[in-house]
Parts: sequence; structure tokens; C-alpha cells
Amino acid sequence: MAEAYKIIDHTYDAVVVGAGGSGLRAAMGIAETGLKVACITKVFPTRSHTVAAQGGIAASLGNMGPDHWQWHMYDTVKGSDWLGDQDAIEYLCREAPKAVYELEHFGVPFSRTEEGKIYQRAFGGMTQNMGDGPPAQRTCAAADRTGHAMLHALYQQSLKHDTDFYIEYFAIDLIMVDGACKGVIALNMEDGSIHRFRSHSVVLATGGYGRCYFSATSAHTSTGDGGGMAIRAGVPMQDMEFVQFHPTGIYGAGVLITEGARGEGGYLTNAQGERFMERYAPSAKDLASRDVVSRSMAMEIREGRGVGAEGDHINLHLNHIDPAVLHERLPGISETAKIFAGVDVTKEPIPVTPTVHYNMGGIPTNYHGEVVTLKDGDPDSVVQGLFAVGEAACVSVHGANRLGSNSLIDLVVFGRATAHRVGATIKPFTSHAPLPKGSADFALGRLDGYRHSKGGSPTAAVRGAMQKTMQANAGVFRTSEVLEEGQRKIDAVYQQMADIGIADRSMVFNTDLIETMELDNMIGQAVLTMHMAASRHESRGAHMHEDFPKRDDETWMKHSLGWFRDGSVRLDTRPVHSYTLSDEIAYIKPKARVY
Ligand code: FUM
Repeated sequence: MAEAYKIIDHTYDAVVVGAGGSGLRAAMGIAETGLKVACITKVFPTRSHTVAAQGGIAASLGNMGPDHWQWHMYDTVKGSDWLGDQDAIEYLCREAPKAVYELEHFGVPFSRTEEGKIYQRAFGGMTQNMGDGPPAQRTCAAADRTGHAMLHALYQQSLKHDTDFYIEYFAIDLIMVDGACKGVIALNMEDGSIHRFRSHSVVLATGGYGRCYFSATSAHTSTGDGGGMAIRAGVPMQDMEFVQFHPTGIYGAGVLITEGARGEGGYLTNAQGERFMERYAPSAKDLASRDVVSRSMAMEIREGRGVGAEGDHINLHLNHIDPAVLHERLPGISETAKIFAGVDVTKEPIPVTPTVHYNMGGIPTNYHGEVVTLKDGDPDSVVQGLFAVGEAACVSVHGANRLGSNSLIDLVVFGRATAHRVGATIKPFTSHAPLPKGSADFALGRLDGYRHSKGGSPTAAVRGAMQKTMQANAGVFRTSEVLEEGQRKIDAVYQQMADIGIADRSMVFNTDLIETMELDNMIGQAVLTMHMAASRHESRGAHMHEDFPKRDDETWMKHSLGWFRDGSVRLDTRPVHSYTLSDEIAYIKPKARVY
């Protein structure tokens, strides 16, 4: 190693990396069981990306009409295009109402109905009566600032339950000993000190890797740090080819306009003023699932019916909605539209375009949050000591396409499940075996390598090349030719990492260094996304492969798995869980997915 770093040691029962909705729910739940828990986060907790979630959180409360968790489950399975694991989906939908009432008791200021119940709005793909009924109003909302409200309540709860926070600490790498996770190495960005957290378990709650793309609704901090650490620890990633494009990112800015806007009656039109969704999804129309709406918008643009001088976007109308309703239910996006598009939503449509929003894929886990891998022929082999939750994870409840408002519920349901599992498997005051000598060497070697890198490529240039490649070659529509080119290009971007050079050698608040390590986290996931997309020869959910335009359940109803090491990709698969947890619902059999 080029330089000796002084290491500050800490010992915990559990360490949670990330302080968004899932990380905070896991941390507070673990602390509640009497275990000693640390939460490491690179941004102040209430600045985590959950803060940007707008429209709401799905749960079959039935406050606005009949509803049942089985209906929610049916919609989620159909939304996933049958790639979701039905045991995990049952768990999600059964637990959802409890999780929402828990949030209410934690102090989340939900919007209210006239009778004082939690207000629920319609969201895409949410229906009554196992898909046969009208839209279900299932998405519980705090105006259009639901994530913000949740994050503040969960942070307060975490403090109440004595979570130790390490704020503005950047987790560098996991400490793995004989295939089990024993802790994590982190950098305190403020003073440059290095910290070794020894723990019985580590929970990765680091969010998605949306910033692999050029235009995304994700925060600039959404760099898939947990996925990067998992890949380097030899853990596979699952279903990375499924990248969700949200239909309504503001044209040019990429900022989110909530699906709740359509839930409150908003609709899309093309250059001819036509409500084109009626053609693509005659029943659900503008409230079809996101993959369907995004593809329909892209088709309209491709066929010359896009809006604007370059015919490259679509209009979202809210101007027919009572301004009082907009003010009460959608105040945030009214302001966002003004700032980022110069539009007064009471008078004009908002220019929108499909924008990268969510990663269905991630670190494979079971419904207890335990990371699983394919080992000795067992596709559900647990990686001891390692957990993942939220967008970093692939449980998989979202399969090939997530329904809007199912991510916030995923955060709290599986954050809580993970806390239960950690609490059930670790007894307070359990002693720690000493870590092997050199347990920090791998992490510090990487840090040191980038800190002293002298190549000719600035980090921003390499990151830009990755983002442009992902945007152009792993978009809404894919072909073999485009994906083959994408593989060549993204592999070349990976090779460029060896030529990175950063100017700032400091350990203190060195944003160049942090951005380089973030890029290192993203690039493996970008490579896997492209290679997995190229290998899946069918179309399912968000993966639309024009050379294989049909879903092929016979060959492809299985999860993709991918490992990445030193520039080489290895792909495999694991079966989709085609069983439920209880007798209260039977396996939902695949059928054609129409809205
Ligand atoms: O449109 C939205 O409000 C986003 C919600 C989600 O992604 O779940």
C-alpha cells in the first residue's frame, strides 16, 4: 500500500449503510430490539433520495373504496410481468396496511379525507377485483411530498431508538471473511479519517444506481454504492436489465412530475392534441403501468407525433383540474413545473418525457432482507451477515416493472422485516471474533489507488461517457444491434477507469475522490445492465427488445444473475419463486398483460 492510514475502530451488532426510508426503518427496528446499531450515510439523513418521492405509498386500506391485499398482490404480480417472487409479493401486500398505520403513528402527516381517514389516490396499474374492476385508490399520500414526510418521521424515530449516526461518512468496502460479512470500512469525508466498523451484520440500504444514466429523476447521490460494494465482495446482481423509465420527467430537466398528477385526473397528449393513451391502453389509459405509458410516449415521438420544435416530448395536462385541488393535492409539482419548465399548471401543459427513475434489479435478497446467491446449486443460499433493502435490493417484488407507490411501501415493509431478522438472529452482547490482519487493506488499496491516480482521463469525462452510453444503448426500446454496440462501448468505458487522474490528493472533503469512488461503484452496475439486457432474448416489463418482442415464459421466466470482476462478466439465472406464503392466496398464473 502506498500510504499507511490510521484506522479508528468501532464495534456494533449491526451497521446500516444508507439513511433513506429503508435504512432508517431497518436501523430504528434493529435498535428497538436492544441491539447496538450504527447508521453510516454519505448525506444528512433527511437529504436521502427518499425525500424526493412524491405521489405516495401503496397499501390496501380501502379508505376510498373497496380494497384487499389480495387485489394489491394481483396488480403487483401483473405489474412485474410475472417476474416478481410471489412469496415476497404476498409478504409486501399483506404487511402494507400495518406499515402505513405504523408510519401514521410515527407522525407522518398524511392528507385526509372528509372523515379524517388517510387520503388515497389512484396510481397506474392499481385496480379492484384482481384486475377486473375499476381503478383502486390505493396510494396513501401526504400531498405530493410523501417521501419527505416519511423521511423526517423515520429519522426522528431512529434518534428516539438510539441509533448512532455517522453522517457524511462514505462507505468504501465491505469486510468479508470466508464469504461472510463482518463489517465495513468508511471514510469520514469531513476530516479524512478512516473508520473500521466491525459488526455481526451489515445492511446495505444505499438506493439505486440511476445516475449511471444521463437523464434521471434520481438524486446525483444515487450512485449504487451498495451494489458496487456487493459486486466487489463477489455477490451477484439480479435482473439489472430492468430499468424503469418514469413517463413524466420534465423535458430537458429530468425532474419528476408525480404519477399522482395523472392519479388526480391529469392526461397526456401528442402534437395533434390527441389523448393517445386511449389507443394503447383502452381500459387504464393514462393510468396504465409505467412501462406501458413510457413506451407509448416513445412510440408517439418516434412516429412523428411528439410535441415541440423538435417533436421530442409530450404534453401533460393539469389545467382542467380545479386550481384549489392542485393547490391542496399537488403543490410541490405545481412549483416544480414553474421553476423547471416555466409553466403555470393551471393554464398550460407541462412538457414531459420518459426519464430513468428506478432500478428493479439489484442485490438479490429473500423477503427477510438476507442477501442470497447461487452457491453449490442452491439459488437461495444466504450470504452470512449481509442484508440489503430498498432500491439497492432485488427482493424481488417489482420483477420486470414496478408499480408507482410500491417503492415507498417496499422500503418500510422490508426495512422492518430486515430489522426483525437481525433481531432474531443476533443476541445483544454477542462477542466478535477478531478480524483477520489486513481486513482494511482491500478498501484502503482502492482509496489510495484513486487518490494518487495520475491518468489522463478526468472522472467527469469517464462518467459522462458511461451516462451517454447507457442512455443511448439501454433505453426504452432495445435491439440486438444497439445492445451489442452498447456492450462494446460500456466495456471500453470500464477500461478507461484505469486511466483516471484526479488532481486533488487531499483526504479532507475531496469531492474528486468521492466522485471517482462513486463512479467505480456505478460502472460495474452499468456493465451488468448492458450485458444482462443483451442476453435476455424476450420482452418483459421494462425490457423491450424489438428483435424479441414477445414475453417468453418458457425460456425466460427466470431471474438473471450477473457477477463482475476485473472487467469480466459472468451470467447465470435463478428460478422465480412461483409459490405464495399462505393459503389465503394461490399462485397467480401468468397471462397476457393488457391494461
Ligand atoms: O410518480 C411518483 O410519485 C413516483 C412514485 C414512485 O416511483 O413510486
